[in-house]
Amino acid sequence: MPQQIKRLVLVFALIVAGFLVARHFLVPPTFGTLGHYRAAAVDTVASRPIRYAGQQVCADCHDDVVAEKANSRHSSVACEVCHGPAAKHADDPDSGVPPAPRDRSKCPLCHGYNPSRPTGFPQIDPQAHNPAKPCITCHKPHQPVTPNVPGECSACHGQVAMTKALSAHAPLACIRCHETPEEHKINPRQVVASKPRRRELCGQCHAKDAEQPADISEAIPRISMGSHGSGLVCWQCHYPHHPEAK
Ligand code: HEC
Ligand code: HEC
Ligand code: HEC
Ligand code: HEC
Ligand code: HEC
Ligand code: HEC
Ligand code: HEC
Ligand code: HEC
Repeated sequence: MPQQIKRLVLVFALIVAGFLVARHFLVPPTFGTLGHYRAAAVDTVASRPIRYAGQQVCADCHDDVVAEKANSRHSSVACEVCHGPAAKHADDPDSGVPPAPRDRSKCPLCHGYNPSRPTGFPQIDPQAHNPAKPCITCHKPHQPVTPNVPGECSACHGQVAMTKALSAHAPLACIRCHETPEEHKINPRQVVASKPRRRELCGQCHAKDAEQPADISEAIPRISMGSHGSGLVCWQCHYPHHPEAK
């Protein structure tokens, strides 16, 4: 037999011996009793302390909060997502109360803007959305509704409003050009305001033969709708919130 075959057999024998020794000393005793895993793992897991109680238990003592939340848009958010594991508290309330997330850090975990969230999920930019105040000064955590709906468009469109205020269009109300359902101020992403589509809107005031609107005292510069701007929509060339003619 060639010498190298002897060496290969020796190596092979060593591996088999090592495997048998390892199997004897290292494989846990209950391995294989219930299948290809350690049967005692079930007991190990079962013996770990229970940290979460589940929402049903909270209802025993906090039925008011449970009822309020059940009819809210947070109905699918479990109590302990916000209050942390509370099994100890549920067993013995005298042992201490769970913390409540009263600062601004918790809510953006779900509501901070993130493009991977589903469309329509209520999201905000925590840096820009009413900074410095805790979320719960305006939103009830167990019944989150958008509160104190602002009346002015400028509350949410500050940039546009500021630009317009310094422009020739300062006297024009936003709703002169945008049809805006009241619901837009509560649910701005679901209910949108209209955007002008046709140049005739601008023609209402700027066409040669247009009537002077009763509520506007300024002399309005007129153009010929037929020839001016080669038929393109006006906002190809004039920013409607700051129209300039240069
Ligand atoms: C056996 C009754 C009981 C159960 C069950 C129970 N609690 Fe309480 N909980 C209390 C009592 C009593 C207090 C008031 C303690 C106090 O005001 O000092 C309290 C207070 C709280 C507070 C107030 C914290 C604060 O900062 O004011 C929170 C939050 C709370 N519980 C959450 C929970 C959650 C979540 C559950 C379910 C996992 C739960 N509790 C289950 C009795 C219970
Ligand atoms: C979205 C996060 C959130 C969820 C979900 C939530 N809580 Fe709260 N909870 C809070 C915050 C924040 C406060 C503190 C409110 C405050 O101080 O005005 C609070 C306060 C409480 C209090 C103190 C008394 C009160 O009514 O303000 C209790 C009790 C309580 N929560 C129980 C529960 C129970 C029970 C559930 C599940 C049914 C639950 N919470 C779900 C965030 C949450
Ligand atoms: C675990 C995730 C989670 C956390 C944490 C959470 N929310 Fe929500 N929130 C939701 C879900 C889910 C909805 C419902 C979305 C839907 O209906 O499409 C919601 C809805 C809302 C809405 C929209 C209500 C409306 O009518 O448009 C507001 C406001 C809100 N939450 C505020 C808060 C505040 C404030 C906190 C912190 C105290 C908070 N959320 C913490 C998941 C969360
Ligand atoms: C000063 C009051 C105030 C504070 C503080 C505040 N919000 Fe709001 N929030 C509002 C108002 C008003 C609206 C409705 C108008 C809007 O969308 O801006 C709103 C809307 C929302 C919406 C719904 C947006 C949508 O597109 O439907 C969410 C989610 C929300 N807030 C979460 C938060 C979170 C999270 C915090 C804390 C980090 C917070 N808010 C702090 C007043 C507040
Ligand atoms: C509560 C906050 C809020 C108020 C108040 C508000 N808007 Fe908006 N608006 C928004 C948000 C948020 C969007 C962006 C929606 C999106 O990106 O899908 C928007 C979008 C728009 C758009 C663009 C629609 C599009 O298709 O691109 C117009 C136009 C508009 N708003 C006009 C108005 C006018 C006019 C008013 C006052 C009568 C007003 N909005 C009041 C929050 C508000
Ligand atoms: C003279 C008519 C006119 C007035 C007044 C006007 N808009 Fe517009 N706005 C437009 C037109 C036209 C567009 C569409 C531009 C486009 O499609 O590119 C537009 C677009 C918008 C948009 C979409 C984003 C953007 O900047 O293009 C928002 C938001 C908006 N307007 C809000 C407002 C608000 C808020 C006011 C009042 C402060 C206002 N508009 C006043 C004509 C007007
Ligand atoms: C309700 C009437 C009205 C409507 C609708 C209207 N405008 Fe005007 N426009 C005015 C008034 C008023 C002035 C300012 C006159 C002045 O003070 O010199 C003006 C001025 C202008 C100017 C001249 C700015 C300058 O610096 O001289 C342009 C360009 C203009 N508008 C474009 C538009 C466009 C584009 C639209 C459609 C998106 C539009 N306008 C819709 C009333 C209107
Ligand atoms: C292709 C670009 C373009 C388009 C599209 C366009 N404009 Fe102009 N507009 C201009 C330029 C450039 C000027 C300044 C030079 C001039 O007076 O012809 C101007 C000037 C104006 C003036 C000021 C005239 C004066 O006498 O001071 C008004 C008002 C005006 N445009 C309204 C409109 C309206 C309304 C529309 C849509 C029906 C429109 N524009 C479409 C480029 C355009």
